[in-house]
Amino acid sequence: MSIHTSTFSFLSPSQFEHSSWEIITHSSHNYQLPNRRSTFSRAVKRLTFHSPGKIGTAAQTIRRAFKYDLYTRYIAGEDGIGRPGKMSLCRKIRCFLGCWTWIARKDIVLELDDGRALVVLWRAPEDPKNASRRRSLRSVIVDNVSRVASSFLDSFEPDMIKKRKRELKSAHDKAVRSALGDKVDEMMYIHLLATAPLCQGQGLGGQLLDCAGELADIQGRAIWLISSGLQNVPFYNAHGFETVGEMVIGNTDRKWGRGPIYCPLMVREPTVSP
Ligand SMILES: CC(C)(COP(=O)(O)OP(=O)(O)OC[C@H]1O[C@@H](n2cnc3c(N)ncnc32)[C@H](O)[C@@H]1OP(=O)(O)O)[C@@H](O)C(=O)NCCC(=O)NCCS
Repeated sequence: MSIHTSTFSFLSPSQFEHSSWEIITHSSHNYQLPNRRSTFSRAVKRLTFHSPGKIGTAAQTIRRAFKYDLYTRYIAGEDGIGRPGKMSLCRKIRCFLGCWTWIARKDIVLELDDGRALVVLWRAPEDPKNASRRRSLRSVIVDNVSRVASSFLDSFEPDMIKKRKRELKSAHDKAVRSALGDKVDEMMYIHLLATAPLCQGQGLGGQLLDCAGELADIQGRAIWLISSGLQNVPFYNAHGFETVGEMVIGNTDRKWGRGPIYCPLMVREPTVSP
């Protein structure tokens, strides 16, 4: 698989003059970032429909990476005590649906090691003021198909999960509004980063994060994310992210036995001007 310039249409031609991103766009197999943790550098590739096997692996990576994650367990309707419960079929389908939606919508899904590590990056709208009007027809169709499928899956979920999801949405919106305000429309967003548990600690996540950072640098944009917990903060700090806000969930839910879940909102400012 190779990554072609056309797939990254959000970059203007002049922006391709930046050398390291040109490497990934023209011959992704050689894209390497210095990573002190890696014993060997691997090529970052874009996840596409051409590699259905990798999509399956990526969905599995997400499921396994977040299995013990408190944020995920909360949204899955668990009480947080003891070992995580068995993952429902609905959640498995959702992981696969998520991968399908990101690829179909042409979000930037980069992977390493055949889907055992992946990052999902959402572009900033080219014209933030008209962001909703400028969405492509493809993106609108994909979003609607995905929404219908999601609503169908939601109908199998208990009310408690629906309530927690509403709580999450409200806490998320509040944290973004107070920490980023309108600036959020000019920023790139890391929607998800995951490495399969057996592959963690080898520099894969760091390499993908640096790659996302470099992409944002090319556009002179900041990137933001919400970490699923405080445990990842040192990792993100090591890759240039700083905490600028916080989302808190689980502090009023009586069925949740692990207390509030603090999810830092972090930003990485661009290091290269456009
Ligand atoms: C966070 C995550 C993506 C990092 O991916 P990774 O491929 O392990 O990342 P790296 O190997 O580049 O670096 C991981 C850092 O955590 C440490 N680490 C994480 N997991 C480790 C493990 N299983 N073994 C050893 N070290 C580990 C590394 O030492 C390194 O820390 P340092 O650079 O400060 O010394 C991965 O741990 C993960 O998928 N976690 C579960 C899902 C999650 O929390 N995603 C982020 C949501 S915000």
